[in-house]
Amino acid sequence: MRALITGVAGMVGSHLTDALIARGDEVIGIDNLSYGSMHNIAHHLDNPRFQFLQYDVLDGRAMEACSEGIDIIFHLAAVKKVGEHGLLYPTLSVIGKGTLVVFGAAAKNGCKVILASTSDVYGSGIPPFRETDPPVIGPSYVKRWGYASAKLFAEQLAYAYFGDFHVPMVILRYCGSFSHRSTLQVGGHIPIFVDAILKDKEVIIHGDGSQTRPFIHTHDLINCTLLAADKEEAVGQIFNIGGEEDISVLDMALLIHELVDTGKPIKLKYIPIESVFGQYEEIMKRSIDMTKTKTILGYKQQIPVREGLKLIIEKWESIHMGG
Ligand SMILES: NC(=O)c1ccc[n+]([C@@H]2O[C@H](COP(=O)([O-])OP(=O)(O)OC[C@H]3O[C@@H](n4cnc5c(N)ncnc54)[C@H](O)[C@@H]3O)[C@@H](O)[C@H]2O)c1
Repeated sequence: MRALITGVAGMVGSHLTDALIARGDEVIGIDNLSYGSMHNIAHHLDNPRFQFLQYDVLDGRAMEACSEGIDIIFHLAAVKKVGEHGLLYPTLSVIGKGTLVVFGAAAKNGCKVILASTSDVYGSGIPPFRETDPPVIGPSYVKRWGYASAKLFAEQLAYAYFGDFHVPMVILRYCGSFSHRSTLQVGGHIPIFVDAILKDKEVIIHGDGSQTRPFIHTHDLINCTLLAADKEEAVGQIFNIGGEEDISVLDMALLIHELVDTGKPIKLKYIPIESVFGQYEEIMKRSIDMTKTKTILGYKQQIPVREGLKLIIEKWESIHMGG
């Protein structure tokens, strides 16, 4: 199979490259390196089955040209959720226009598209979220909803290209994946906690830390992504791909502290949620229903969260702390 990955230098893109190359596929990866890192893909640069192109996904001509002869596009490039002090425009334009460009190129060159969406689209609905649940998105003046709104637009585009132009596609609503390639900038709270605890710094908790999130090691997320890409029955459908173990933010900090075993007490610092996300009601429980994913794709978890955390701690020490 010849695959094109957008956002190849990011966390998911680089692990997906590892998996595709390992099973004998060819990969062209594009990334503008705004958030990703060449370190994540450096080990493939000499492989004749891998090619990296520093392109912007918004560049329609470049995307059309590099989609020629491609069987499947994994569209991962995105600027993720913004906090109260971040810019919103890049999130909306990269996800909105970038998805339009990718589907345009796929329609022209006869490619299948796997679209990375997010469980954030369920908004403040009632968990556990199922793929058929209606999105419950907050008001447009609250910046935090821009990411979910852009991904919903991307999903609708996927259905438009599927229905109107017969582009085969699968939508994957990812949730809570982590690995040693997660970044402090956009990788969620696990890498931030690991880094702070290893360095004996303050661990910042938003609110009282009782909000729960499901987690999945990226190894499992990638396995599930490949199942979705390979199964014919998956075409035209949406799948949740995320963790089945819901852990509160505070418990996650305590668990990482226990696993790191510094011998020093944890330094917790609580800050109000509004200072991070503005006028916004925090989603206290986010959990997803994986029934459809298990039934149709045959997905089974391989790495329990505790084991995944041990892996990230071990690698984080060697990559970031010379350990
Ligand atoms: N990791 C998760 O748990 C999770 C959860 C929900 C959704 N997702 C979605 O999965 C996808 C991959 O997530 P990730 O965790 O690997 O994120 P990431 O930030 O690590 O990777 C995204 C990559 O896209 C690249 N990029 C951004 N703008 C670009 C542009 N204009 N042109 C080319 N490249 C560009 C970045 O440089 C980065 O390498 C994203 O679409 C994200 O929204 C991930």
